Amino acid sequence: MTADALKTQFRQQAQGALSLNIAFIGISAGLFSALRHQAGSAADLARRMGLDAGYVTRWCDAAYAFGYLEEDDALFRLSATGEAMCPEAPDSLMPLAVQSVLSAHMAERAAGLMQGGERPGESVLGERATVLPWFGPMLEASFGPLFETVICPALPVFAEVDAVGGEVLDLGCGNGWYLRVLARRYRRLRGLGLDGFAENVEQARARAVTEGLSDRLRFEQGDIHATTLAAPVDLIAMNRALHHVWEQDQAGIVAWLRDHLKLGGHAVIWEPAWPADRAQLRDPARRSLAFQNLSEHVQGNHLLQPEEIATAFQKQGMAVQMFRFSGNNEAVIVARR
Ligand SMILES: C[S@@+](CC[C@H](N)C(=O)[O-])C[C@H]1O[C@@H](n2cnc3c(N)ncnc32)[C@H](O)[C@@H]1O
Repeated sequence: MTADALKTQFRQQAQGALSLNIAFIGISAGLFSALRHQAGSAADLARRMGLDAGYVTRWCDAAYAFGYLEEDDALFRLSATGEAMCPEAPDSLMPLAVQSVLSAHMAERAAGLMQGGERPGESVLGERATVLPWFGPMLEASFGPLFETVICPALPVFAEVDAVGGEVLDLGCGNGWYLRVLARRYRRLRGLGLDGFAENVEQARARAVTEGLSDRLRFEQGDIHATTLAAPVDLIAMNRALHHVWEQDQAGIVAWLRDHLKLGGHAVIWEPAWPADRAQLRDPARRSLAFQNLSEHVQGNHLLQPEEIATAFQKQGMAVQMFRFSGNNEAVIVARR
């Protein structure tokens, strides 16, 4: 490839990143959602949303330039792409925009930490006040449909818990979407979600109330390492959360899971599958995992190979089943006490 062709290629990629950055501003400030209800001038929009007219005008120009907005007589309305970027749209593009800005933040943190090697931990996720509220919705939009339509029907353990009106503990529950999916699908199952971030727990409680599920779902803020349950539960779920507590005390967390399950109860662990062979990271469907692992490193974590998770449960005397989804990129390990 010539130097000019390379520049053209990278300029096009840079435009993709800019487009997602513009979209993130519209999502975070509620501008897409406002325009979904009603077209308007930049000044109208600023007034309606209680935002600064100068910033809104510049955003409208940029959103128009990148094709999110159409304009008739100085009135802006959403284009089809703008509509697809609305967080409320079915199968919204919102997670891509949030991920793009979060990735830029993590890249900047990794660059600054390269020399000293410090790993600041989970707190880096909370460093961007506009990103944190979108962390839960981003994960929900990215993985909720897969869970609801593919993973849930493939795992009989949830129906077993439901049959006895049993309890599911979701450790590192984010905004609580996993328990909400289960509670909608299984009408007797009860759930307790635990997460370290107050923002996540507040969102989880509010959404459970909105969906009429708060009689069966509870959410608490707390550290997984410092939690003990009054009584063992039927199922403990960890979605993209086990790798967050693995480096600190791998054997300890797996023993904790076993000890807090009833006899015959299950741990259901969902993790992105880190491949055994580096060459697999070149697959376009896996590339983003390699970036994620760098950002996990900043947080004091690393992604896990499904086999090492299975082995850790087997060492605790638990029977393990392994399920793979999304072209082997998503692993669910079900371990029975
Ligand atoms: C990648 S997110 C996954 C969230 C959620 N399970 C989902 O699938 O959307 C990992 C979650 O684990 C939580 N977490 C990580 N370490 C934790 C700890 N020691 N105690 C409580 N929560 C923790 C984080 O706050 C975060 O919400």
